[in-house]
Amino acid sequence: MKVTVVAPSNIAFIKYWGTRDEESTLPYNPSISMTLSTCISRCTVEHLPGTDSVEVLWRRRGELAPAPANFASGVERHLARLRESFGVPGGFRVAAENSFPTAAGMASSASGFAALTLATAGALGRELESAEASILARRSGSGSAARSVLGGYVEWPSQSGSEEAEQIAPAADWPLSNVVAVVSSEPKAISSREGHRRAPGSPLFDGRMQAIPDRLRTVRQAIEERNISLLGPTIEEEAIELHMIAMSSSPPIVYWTAGTLSVLRHVRALRDAGLSAYATIDAGPNVHVICPSEEEANVARALGQLDDVETVIRDRVGPGPYVTENHVA
Ligand code: PMV
Repeated sequence: MKVTVVAPSNIAFIKYWGTRDEESTLPYNPSISMTLSTCISRCTVEHLPGTDSVEVLWRRRGELAPAPANFASGVERHLARLRESFGVPGGFRVAAENSFPTAAGMASSASGFAALTLATAGALGRELESAEASILARRSGSGSAARSVLGGYVEWPSQSGSEEAEQIAPAADWPLSNVVAVVSSEPKAISSREGHRRAPGSPLFDGRMQAIPDRLRTVRQAIEERNISLLGPTIEEEAIELHMIAMSSSPPIVYWTAGTLSVLRHVRALRDAGLSAYATIDAGPNVHVICPSEEEANVARALGQLDDVETVIRDRVGPGPYVTENHVA
């Protein structure tokens, strides 16, 4: 059976930065994210019973080709885990594509592993509850993939303390946009996995852990009240702190470029000019600007005019993954 799933990326308001248990990919602190709709991974999985071969293809700039070794080996390892969980033998043919730059701090692993997990389950004829999907996606080693199996506003681990992500509000509750100012689409030099390992060694890490419970409450309340002026300052503080921790890790990790700073400065200028635009940044140089959807066009136009910005991606909150007949191959 051949199944294709589209899974969106997500952008975290409260970040996961630091892995408490690397074997199970469990974080030091809960994170809260918004599932997107334009930045997506599409993944087709075909089960090949009677073989044990695994073929991994990806589509880049329209061309379907064998995936590079580092990408293919991550897929193969995750397929081996899924095969074991489902207890079904056989090989697979996988074909994947992303609608946005891969490994540039835009959570391509979140959407990619969420799509791979759901498509593999589908190809094996399994229906997954969202909790099971979230736990299986996270076993890929990408914690943020635990959040991408759900739509809207998502917290991981769930507030009840179990390991899966849970939706805290559907997308329709609050139409926020994420305008990404892409200052570099190059893959990052240091993986987030390595960043998670180094984070607890930063002298700033303990202070961050103390601030997290209050920030989680603020972000949950902002989502419930649809209050961008409550959400905005907290997400900026979070993102800047993540990068201060990265920069004060040993050895230091510097994801920012001059372009990152220029966009951050400009976002402040947009606010001074009356827009409700707030920046957040994942493990890369690109700046995600969160704003109410009615301000998306103005924010995108303003960011697109900056010399440092290569391109602007206009994205918004969305309802999460879906199955499609539109196969990658
Ligand atoms: O899921 P990972 O291992 O790619 O790590 C995600 C790290 C951040 O994107 C920086 C934060 C987050 O919570 O998404």
